[in-house]
Amino acid sequence: MGSAQEESRAVPTRPMEFDAWFDDVPRHFAGNGDLLLSHVFAVLSSVFPDGEAYFVRSVEAVRDRITEPRLRQEGEGFIGQEAMHGREHAVFNDRMAELGYPVRPIGSYVRKLTELRERFLNEKANLAVTAALEHYTATLAETLLGEPEARAAIGHDGARHLFLWHALEEAEHKAVAFDVYRHVGGTERMRIITMWAIHLNFLLETSIWTVISLGLDPDARHHPLRVLRSLWRLRHSPFTSRRAVRSLRRYHRRGFHPNDYDTSELISTWRAKLFGSEGALTDVFAT
Ligand SMILES: [Fe+2]
Ligand SMILES: [Fe+2]
Repeated sequence: MGSAQEESRAVPTRPMEFDAWFDDVPRHFAGNGDLLLSHVFAVLSSVFPDGEAYFVRSVEAVRDRITEPRLRQEGEGFIGQEAMHGREHAVFNDRMAELGYPVRPIGSYVRKLTELRERFLNEKANLAVTAALEHYTATLAETLLGEPEARAAIGHDGARHLFLWHALEEAEHKAVAFDVYRHVGGTERMRIITMWAIHLNFLLETSIWTVISLGLDPDARHHPLRVLRSLWRLRHSPFTSRRAVRSLRRYHRRGFHPNDYDTSELISTWRAKLFGSEGALTDVFAT
């Protein structure tokens, strides 16, 4: 492993406080008032706090069995980063709830789903779920950090900074849950089969909640053509590109490892852009 890649594996917990950034987030914050994208991002953000709490618990459950000091340290970093993501997305979600997005029902649905998983699946299987979903967030992160069009699609500066900071840290810790899963004896077979279940789960869950969320939005109900135009844009956006699909498919290869795809340059570029030498979040879109 090169030194750049070695350095990019650091998993620092950065204390963040976005509160003041979200006061003026408009209802359709994404794109140029893009209906569908605003709802998709709001749904994703609504899933994060309870979803990431589940990621944390799945790693915490085996924490004492991690004998490799380096992985142990990365595991602690992972827990710190995910806890902070959940906290700051909850702040954004409060604003989304004020704007009429169904943040609360989505949160209780995710809580129930994760409780069910924890009741019926063993620790390895829960880690396999976490590792699979982490590959989703890593793919989303690569898209956001790598494609200006994807960043522009988030629209509002506060929301964009939240998602960019989150994306940077998802890229930094993209291999941690995967390595923990392997370390405790998770098999390739279970890892790959789990990913198929996660594809189905992720696609269904995101589409159904987006449709519900759109149905609650008077603008979407009164302007179906706007929704269709927005759907066409999403279909041709970097989020649904062949590159994103290829990245998801990589996970199905036997012997795959998240670090096979080197994102160290992307990580160091965005660490410098967002946090510079001061270590505090900089407004990268300020003119
Ligand atoms: Fe996260
Ligand atoms: Fe993550």
